[in-house]
Amino acid sequence: MSGITLVQYLRAQENITPGATGEFSSLMNEVLVAAKLVSREVNRAGIGEDIIGLTGEVNVQGEEVQKLDHYANETFIKILSQSGKVCAIGSEENETAVLVPKEQQTSGKYVFMMDPLDGSSNIDVNVGIGTIFAVYKKISSGDTVTDEDLLQKADRQVGAGYILYGSSTMFVYTTGNGVHGFTLDPAIGEFYLSHPDLKIPSRGPYYSINEGSVSLWNDKQKSLVQYFKETDEETGRPYRLRYIGTLVSDFHRTLLKGGIFMYPGDCKNPNGKLRFAFEAAPLAFIVEQAGGKASDGKSNIYTQSPTELHQRIPLFIGSKEDVELAESKLR
Ligand code: AHG
Ligand code: MN
Ligand code: MN
Repeated sequence: MSGITLVQYLRAQENITPGATGEFSSLMNEVLVAAKLVSREVNRAGIGEDIIGLTGEVNVQGEEVQKLDHYANETFIKILSQSGKVCAIGSEENETAVLVPKEQQTSGKYVFMMDPLDGSSNIDVNVGIGTIFAVYKKISSGDTVTDEDLLQKADRQVGAGYILYGSSTMFVYTTGNGVHGFTLDPAIGEFYLSHPDLKIPSRGPYYSINEGSVSLWNDKQKSLVQYFKETDEETGRPYRLRYIGTLVSDFHRTLLKGGIFMYPGDCKNPNGKLRFAFEAAPLAFIVEQAGGKASDGKSNIYTQSPTELHQRIPLFIGSKEDVELAESKLR
């Protein structure tokens, strides 16, 4: 199989980035190793020592921790803490950030935010699951990590990406120079460039939302979804419904085919379910780079900062025309 590998692509990107020190490339080389380890476990879940099922713990979100959640979280934390490139790791699975103190040789200048295993409810039923990550530079002076470093505006990201453990394992990322997709050849353990410079269609044929929650939505949300179901040739309606229940899978389809993914707030959870730092902000960077948009229903997520590490935020993300239509109907 010919083609450029992710390692080669990172080096090529570094060579054309003024002032690049190579530290980001080496961080990403650690991330892709963790991704391959998680991919291997995902692909043999159910065989041998059982990685399927629950650990019996409950995480900071109040959710039962799946064994694969735990494995992915520990794998990324272990590898990144030893990388020498990271001073703090914020994880959806950990109440507080994991700090890599300056005096430890293995500390570094980046702050890493991650949802180590997205789509936990789909682990045991062989449906796509993922990892989402965002990379920021430490900005506070001095050796300690503060909230200034952990609660940064989404547009201060220096990199963001996701791994999709699906029918194939894909690694999709941006550093602000477009969005690039790589596919893992498990036979040799290399990611090969398969989707260069991804651009999202300006509007799409799909809408994606958990309609099971319709009774919890406000009237504007109900009429927005009703709008996508109406017949209108000119605007390509009715849209088709696709909902996988793994954000990474629903987002990846939206990125490639177009349309809108929605996880709105509702009367039980006004800020919805998804997390700003670990899910919305990294995907907002990626979709912006692909020509799309991410909104909380009122304003662009990419220009917002979180108020606390596990802040949740309503998410409307995808094709620019579809997201702006949603904002106009929700306003
Ligand atoms: P996680 O497994 O990291 O908690 O994320 C699950 C999220 C997201 O992947 C998906 O879009 C959403 O949960 C599905 O939620 P519902 O089951 O409420 O639709
Ligand atoms: Mn998630
Ligand atoms: Mn998760």
